[in-house]
Amino acid sequence: MRAAFITVMGAALIALGASGLAWSEHDDDRGGRAPTQGSRTRGDLAPVTNEGYRTECGGCHFAYQPGLLPAAAWGRIMNTLDQHFGDDASLDPALKDELLAYLDANAADRSDGKRARSFAAGKITGDGLPRITQTTYFKRKHDEVPIRYVKDNPQVKSFSACAACHPGADQGDFNEHQVNIPGVGRFED
Ligand code: HEC
Ligand code: HEC
Repeated sequence: MRAAFITVMGAALIALGASGLAWSEHDDDRGGRAPTQGSRTRGDLAPVTNEGYRTECGGCHFAYQPGLLPAAAWGRIMNTLDQHFGDDASLDPALKDELLAYLDANAADRSDGKRARSFAAGKITGDGLPRITQTTYFKRKHDEVPIRYVKDNPQVKSFSACAACHPGADQGDFNEHQVNIPGVGRFED
C-alpha cells in the first residue's frame, strides 16, 4: 500500500517535472541554433547573419530574417528569382545556392525560437509566391491595423515594409509594444 502510494507520487513528480521542462522549452526563445547570434529577448527572431544575404536580398526591401518563412517557401522564392513579385532578382547560381542554404538552415520550421515557430504554423494563403504577409500568424497579428495606415500611408505603402513600423525589425525585434507607425505613432488595439 505504502509502496504503491510512493510509486504514484513518484510518477506524478516525474510528470510535473516533464511538463515543466516542456513548458520552459516552449517558452524560452533564447535557445536558437547558433549561439553566436547573441542574446535575444523573449519572442524575438534571430537577426540576419549572412552579409551576402543582407546585401542581395536587402537592396529592394527589408532583409527578411530566415525565421519569417518555412524552408519550403524559401525554396520556391529562391528558385524563381527571375520572376520575383514582378521584378527580376536573379543571382549567380553559386550565390543563389549559398543563400538558399542559409535560408533553409535557419527557416521558421527549423528554428527553436517561439516567434519563428509561430511563422511556421498554419498555411500560407494566396496563389502566387509565398509571402510572409500571407502567413496565418502575420495575418492574425495585423488584422486590426487599418489599411489607411499602410497602403494609403506614403511612409509605409505596404505591409512588406516591416521596418517602417517595427523600429527594431533589423535586430529581429517585432514586439508589439515597440511598434511605431509613421504619422500615427504607437498602435493601441
Ligand atoms: C529587384 C528588387 C528585389 C530584389 C533584389 C529582391 N526582392 Fe524580394 N521583393 C521585391 C518586390 C517588389 C516584392 C513585393 C513587395 C510588395 O509587395 O510590397 C518582394 C517581396 C519579397 C517577399 C515577400 C514579402 C511579403 O510581402 O511577405 C520575400 C519573402 C522576398 N521578397 C524575398 C527576397 C529574397 C530572399 C531576395 C534575395 C534573393 C529578394 N527578395 C530580393 C523585390 C526584390
Ligand atoms: C503598418 C505598420 C506595420 C508593418 C508594415 C508591419 N507591422 Fe508588424 N505589427 C504592426 C502592429 C501595429 C502590430 C501590433 C498589432 C496589435 O497589437 O494588435 C504588429 C505586430 C507584429 C508582430 C507581433 C508582435 C507581438 O508582440 O506579438 C509581429 C511578429 C510582426 N508584427 C511582424 C511583422 C513583420 C515580419 C512585418 C513585415 C513583413 C511587419 N510586421 C510589418 C504594424 C506593422
